[in-house]
Amino acid sequence: MRIPRILTALALAASALTALASADKPVIGLSLDTLKEERWQRDRDNFIAEVERLGGSVVVQSANSDDTRQVRDIESLITRGVDVLVVVPHNGEAMTRAMRSAKEAGIPVIAYDRLILNGELAAYVTFDNVKVGELQAQWVVDRLPADKVARLVRIYGAPTDNNAKLFKQGQDNVLDPLISSGRVKVVAEDWALDWKPENAKKIMNAAITRIGHEFDAVLVSNDGTAGGAIQSLIEEGLAGKLIVTGQDADLAACQRIMRGTQSMTVFKPVSKLATLAAQIAVASAKGNLPKAETTLNNGFKEVPCFFEKIVAVDKDNMMETVVAAGFHPAGQIQ
Ligand code: BGC
Repeated sequence: MRIPRILTALALAASALTALASADKPVIGLSLDTLKEERWQRDRDNFIAEVERLGGSVVVQSANSDDTRQVRDIESLITRGVDVLVVVPHNGEAMTRAMRSAKEAGIPVIAYDRLILNGELAAYVTFDNVKVGELQAQWVVDRLPADKVARLVRIYGAPTDNNAKLFKQGQDNVLDPLISSGRVKVVAEDWALDWKPENAKKIMNAAITRIGHEFDAVLVSNDGTAGGAIQSLIEEGLAGKLIVTGQDADLAACQRIMRGTQSMTVFKPVSKLATLAAQIAVASAKGNLPKAETTLNNGFKEVPCFFEKIVAVDKDNMMETVVAAGFHPAGQIQ
């Protein structure tokens, strides 16, 4: 009989905490996969600033690309009695247990940037990730040599990240017809585990060992891994001589674009996304989840989905996009 009594006491304590948190000062739990890429620190800081502006507070956990740790992080946020969970999953398919615990505790979960698959979700706040891939591939295709078959190296993101698959899907939408017609040939391709630049560098090195210097473009899915690939191109004396893509408008990537070793990035205004997610989280803590314009299926349900706009950026429009938005000061990228 002792155990049930202890459990009841725990449950009461937890619900008292929840009740406290729920009033006018919602507590939001933010569980991040990683803070490795520059963008996630900006996401976190803008998210916290907006929640605090709205009278709430945020408890942040970062899992260092470790699924077990992320599930533990989420469970500890649930035990702390947060009102809403906002999650950037390392692996969208590995969060099932954590989603179940959140559901049992009656805590709404919002997937941020990356979708959580096969579980209960209140909302998904993101960019159009298929469009990101389309912008990357279209930028390349528009600049390929006209007089020969274009040879392409492709470096995808982390195979555990649902977004990495969506970026590839968007790239495929643009490339498939050209591959079928023989206009474009993919000469090497691989996935960079955990989006690590060093893994992208290894892929680039392996490709060069196998195919030599005979390629026109490297279609890379984000700026961090583009940095790794470019390191390999520098060592081969190829940097600046061929097209390299990215995404995130990381400071280092914008500098590379201005210097000519990277060709383009996709600018995703993460400050806006984080602000939007914070507003949705606080509203949802008060039981007022806003109505979404569209939904996306996560294998379990149609999830209300909120999108922010994105734009392809190169040397020519850097000033009127990234700089004009206040993302990086002009002085830092020139
Ligand atoms: C995000 C990208 C980011 C990558 C690595 C993706 O899910 O959408 O912006 O570069 O993860 O963190």
